[in-house]
Amino acid sequence: MLVTGKEILNDARKNGYAVGAFNVVNMEMAQAVVRAAEYENSPVIIQTTEGALEYAGVSLISKIVKKLAKGSNVPVALHLDHGKSLEVAMQCIRSGYTSVMIDGSHLSLNENIFLAARVAEVAHACNVSVEAELGRLGGIEDNVNVSKEDEFFTDPDEAITFVKETEIDYLAIAIGTAHGKYKGIPKLDFDRLEIIKKSLEIPIVLHGASGVSEKDIKKAIKLGINKINIDTDLRVAFTDKIKEIIALNPDEFDIRKIFAPARENVIETVRHKIKLFGSSGKY
Ligand code: G3H
Ligand code: 13P
Ligand code: ZN
Repeated sequence: MLVTGKEILNDARKNGYAVGAFNVVNMEMAQAVVRAAEYENSPVIIQTTEGALEYAGVSLISKIVKKLAKGSNVPVALHLDHGKSLEVAMQCIRSGYTSVMIDGSHLSLNENIFLAARVAEVAHACNVSVEAELGRLGGIEDNVNVSKEDEFFTDPDEAITFVKETEIDYLAIAIGTAHGKYKGIPKLDFDRLEIIKKSLEIPIVLHGASGVSEKDIKKAIKLGINKINIDTDLRVAFTDKIKEIIALNPDEFDIRKIFAPARENVIETVRHKIKLFGSSGKY
C-alpha cells in the first residue's frame, strides 16, 4: 500500500528502529525494493533524485512505483530525494509522491529555513510529508577533517530552531557520512547525534549510509536514526552482477537474462539492509 513517509517514520521513531530509503532509477530497481520489503514484511521508502527523474521521467517512474506500492501488502512511501526547489517538489506532489525532501543545505541558515518552510506549507496541504537537511554532507571525494567539522556538521542548536521554524516532518543531519564510495573509513560523530536526538521530537535521517560499517549503522540506529538512505550499494549490486554475467557469457544479448539476476542481487542487498536496520517483521 502507498502511505506517507511520516506514517512509516513515526512508527520507526516510536519503536526505535530504522527504515531503509532506497534509491531507484528504473522498473527493475523499484521491483527489487518492493519485493525485498515483502519478503521481510517491512515498511520501505522508495526514493528518486532529480537525476533519476531526468533519466526516467517523473510521470513514468511515479506510475511504476505507485502501481507496485498499491499492489503490495507492505507500506511503501514514494519520496523525492534531494529536491532542490519548490517547483520540483510540487511536480512530484502532483505526480502522487507521498514524501519530498527539500535540500537547502547549501544555502544560508535563513534561506534554508525559508525554502523548507515554504515546501512544508505546500506539501502538508496535500498530505505529503517533508524532509529537509541541515549541515553539509561530504562529497565522494571529501573526507571532512576535524577542523572543518563544525563548519560542515549539523549544529544541534540550529537544528532546534530549524525544525521549529519550518515544521518539517524529519531532518537529515550531517555527522560524518558522505555520498558515493568512501575512499577512507568514515568516522561518525555519535556524540553530536546523541545531542541532536535528545532535543528533537521528529525522526532523524542518515544520508550516505552505503559503505558505513554495520557496527556504526547499528550504533546510529540505537542513538536515534530512523531513516537510512542507500543508493551506491544498490547501484553496485546491480552493475556488479551485470559485469559478472557479461564476463561469463560475452555473447549474451537477451536483456532479460542479464537484468533478472541483477535484480535478484539487488533484492538480496535490500533484504540484508532491512534486517540490519531492524525493520524486518515490522509489518
Ligand atoms: O544522493 C543521492 C545519490 O547517491 C546521488 O544520486 O546521481 O541520482 O544525483 P544522483
Ligand atoms: P550513498 O551514496 O551512501 O548510497 O547515499 C545515498 C543517499 O544519501 C541518497 O540520498
Ligand atoms: Zn543523500
